Amino acid sequence: MKVLITGGAGFIGSHLTAYLAEQGDEVIVLDNLLRGNKIEDYILSKITFVEGDVRDQDLVMKLSENCDQIYHLAAILGVDIVADNPVETMETEVEGTKNVVYAALKHGVKKVIYASTSGVYGHSAIEKSVDEDIMIDPRTSYAMAKRYNEIYLKAVYEERGLESISLRFFNVYGPRQDDRMVIPRFFEQALKNEPITVFGSGKQTRDFTSVEETIISLVKLSEVSTGAEIYNIANETELNILELAEYIKEITKSDSEIKLIESPANRYDYEVERRVGSSEKLLKAVGFKPNTNIRLGLKKLQESLYQIN
Ligand SMILES: NC(=O)c1ccc[n+]([C@@H]2O[C@H](COP(=O)([O-])OP(=O)(O)OC[C@H]3O[C@@H](n4cnc5c(N)ncnc54)[C@H](O)[C@@H]3O)[C@@H](O)[C@H]2O)c1
Repeated sequence: MKVLITGGAGFIGSHLTAYLAEQGDEVIVLDNLLRGNKIEDYILSKITFVEGDVRDQDLVMKLSENCDQIYHLAAILGVDIVADNPVETMETEVEGTKNVVYAALKHGVKKVIYASTSGVYGHSAIEKSVDEDIMIDPRTSYAMAKRYNEIYLKAVYEERGLESISLRFFNVYGPRQDDRMVIPRFFEQALKNEPITVFGSGKQTRDFTSVEETIISLVKLSEVSTGAEIYNIANETELNILELAEYIKEITKSDSEIKLIESPANRYDYEVERRVGSSEKLLKAVGFKPNTNIRLGLKKLQESLYQIN
């Protein structure tokens, strides 16, 4: 298969790029290297890498030629970055996805696989674990743009028959994630014996999903899903941020204190008290769902990051 991966040099994208290149697919990556290039050297030599912007319609059109599938992951994310750049965040999402759709339609690409977010649930998750049919409540420009694209992709399927999958990722973690995100930040602080800083009460929960199982889920879905569908990819495990800090402190044998600090005013996302997903729809579709024990996942991550046994 020939595939285009937008955002393929990023955290999740670099794992996907490696997976598909290793299984023998012809992979083209388009990325503007906003977060550096996380593709490992031995994989770079097996793929075509193009530095460029997903908002460049001609470029996306050219790179999509003869592709069977487009994995569309290019995005601006991270709570602070989105809060500081709401317009560019939306432009990247909306322009980027429009370009991917135009190119897919023009070149007869069979399927678009789009990285959405569990952020579309906003506060919906307060009462229970969320499935794809629950009333959603996006609050940030990032989450609103993701939801817009989910609806757009559904409409394009109805109107023009372009198949797509929108994947709602739940706090993906693993090697090569940068310290905008909570797990790498806590590891850095713990290993330096600096205070591990937790926003708010630390009682807010998230559902952390390993990048390896996220990739397996999305590749399996790309093989079987038809129409235009939305899937959660969640570990179905609720963990509060204080517990996360304690686990990381424990496994790194750190002397760090765990320090509660006030959330910055622009961090709307931290107001979400609870987020845990259901992967039942995924399980029904592919016979698999993520289920890594978070302690084991963190331990494995520590070993791969810091070569400590
Ligand atoms: N990491 C998570 O927990 C998580 C959760 C929900 C959704 N997602 C979604 O998954 C996708 C991948 O996220 P990630 O964690 O790997 O983030 P990331 O920031 O590491 O990767 C995003 C990539 O997109 C690239 N990019 C940004 N703007 C671009 C542009 N205009 N043109 C071309 N490339 C551009 C960046 O350079 C980066 O390499 C994103 O769409 C994100 O919204 C991630």
